[in-house]
Amino acid sequence: MEVDKELLVRKIKDGTVIDHIPAGNALNVIKILGLPRGKENRMAIIMYTSSSKMKLKDIVKVEGLELTSREVNMISLIAPTATINIVRNYVVVKKERVKIPDYFEGIIKCSNPNCVSNLERETAIPKFRLVSKKPLILRCLYCERHTYREDILRQFGIGR
Ligand code: CTP
Ligand code: ZN
Repeated sequence: MEVDKELLVRKIKDGTVIDHIPAGNALNVIKILGLPRGKENRMAIIMYTSSSKMKLKDIVKVEGLELTSREVNMISLIAPTATINIVRNYVVVKKERVKIPDYFEGIIKCSNPNCVSNLERETAIPKFRLVSKKPLILRCLYCERHTYREDILRQFGIGR
């Protein structure tokens, strides 16, 4: 399967490889990260490729970008199986499995339109506790309302 991947896209020099994305979710991952951001972030999207660990997976390779921990957290909402590989001078210098944090702040919006965190005049930053990983359920710390994976995808204008 290594051959399969390398046939599609060559190795990158400096940047990030987001590997082991659940098949079909590469576009959701790039959307939630706000990619592509410009010419300096040359990128490759590989979808429905074979893998030994997962039957099929997606991969996103981005040159010239090292993700922040906040961005890694955002990926966990869409692709909880993803591995983040930081590449420097062609070598993977850091490999990290994304983790859904127990507490989120400011990344996503509460699903309740009347929540204080959604009122324009308020400055309440959205805050959530993780209720369940599978299915993904977050609970708003202001209004207690649950926010689901579908709400998050909708918020970023993506679906599936
Ligand atoms: N990769 C890349 N460019 C590099 C180095 C690695 O595009 N210069 C990609 C590889 O193609 C692979 C991912 O980054 O998709 C992780 O690389 P590596 O750790 O070498 O592969 P594996 O050992 O197969 O990773 P894992 O065990 O996480 O599956
Ligand atoms: Zn709320």
